[in-house]
Amino acid sequence: MKKYLAWCFTVLLAILCLGGCGREEEEIQSKKLHRADAPVYDEKYITVGFIQTGKESDWRDANTNDYLNTFTEDKGYKLVYIDGNSDSGRQVKAAYDLIYQNVDYIIIDPIVEDGWEDVLEFAKQKEIPVIIADRGVSADQSLYKCWIGSDFKTEGVKAAKWLQDYLEENGRKDEDINIVVLEGTEGASAAIGRTEGLLSEIAKHKNWHVLASRNANFTQGEGRDVMEHILWQYKDIDVVISENDNMMFGAMKAMEQAGIEYGAGGGIITISFDALGEAFHMMEEGKLMVSVECNPLIAGIAEKVIKDLEKGREVGKVQYVKESVFTYKNAAQHIGNRKY
Ligand code: AHR
Repeated sequence: MKKYLAWCFTVLLAILCLGGCGREEEEIQSKKLHRADAPVYDEKYITVGFIQTGKESDWRDANTNDYLNTFTEDKGYKLVYIDGNSDSGRQVKAAYDLIYQNVDYIIIDPIVEDGWEDVLEFAKQKEIPVIIADRGVSADQSLYKCWIGSDFKTEGVKAAKWLQDYLEENGRKDEDINIVVLEGTEGASAAIGRTEGLLSEIAKHKNWHVLASRNANFTQGEGRDVMEHILWQYKDIDVVISENDNMMFGAMKAMEQAGIEYGAGGGIITISFDALGEAFHMMEEGKLMVSVECNPLIAGIAEKVIKDLEKGREVGKVQYVKESVFTYKNAAQHIGNRKY
């Protein structure tokens, strides 16, 4: 019996070892494969891998173009642009690929905050500096060089404060106000921050009621679909706050289709975020009443960070972009000077 047990133990050990060694070997092979496949970048350029979220909004296009126009070959950069295709898993995989390709820098616009620890740890081990841009990550700050972007919570507060002022100016301060919120992608810091800012201000007004707060993923199509559902459910809406312009454009279509009035001329009060070109036209027409600016021009700051790092300088860990608030009253005076 003892002999039989010893034999079983040896066989089990061998199986475990084979399985374990196999997996290890597989990992080594896949890493070798990655390295063998990796393009060899010309040393005369600084190679910057840029992982974008996707193409969900006009803001995103402006942000992508900013990177393409900033990191150009004539300025000494080779930009490796990767479209995350609205898939956070794909973004993480792309980060591993860029590390295996041994690029000089990685810039990530993360779709969601979570899930970045391991790959950022790996980049740090391989001494590839990472810059997080636009949305944030929940990973420890020591794992990346810096974060550059918007103060999303403050944006939310600004939107609610505009509503408060507007209601006061129009003698509606004490009225019951029913609010609908179209939220951006779940887990994205732009949505988390804006919702937090909005809710913190809404809570200060006992007569403000949130009827519905629903995710529409920052896209125009989902903005329209979600708004259609909300309009079936609720008849007495005073305010729509959309966490970006595109979802608001979709919501406007839904309201038009339902024959519901909105905008500065009367009806539902419309508030959104980003303040890109089309939003300015909508504000000029009075369809959109306010858009809290979210500045997509981040690449220039990222380039400055890279230049500083090249010179061995320290860089600020948190760097905010400048932003303002535009309304249907002042849109016409600003539209000519807008860069995006
Ligand atoms: O992270 C920034 C947000 O993402 C913008 O407000 C939105 O339009 C974009 O898709």
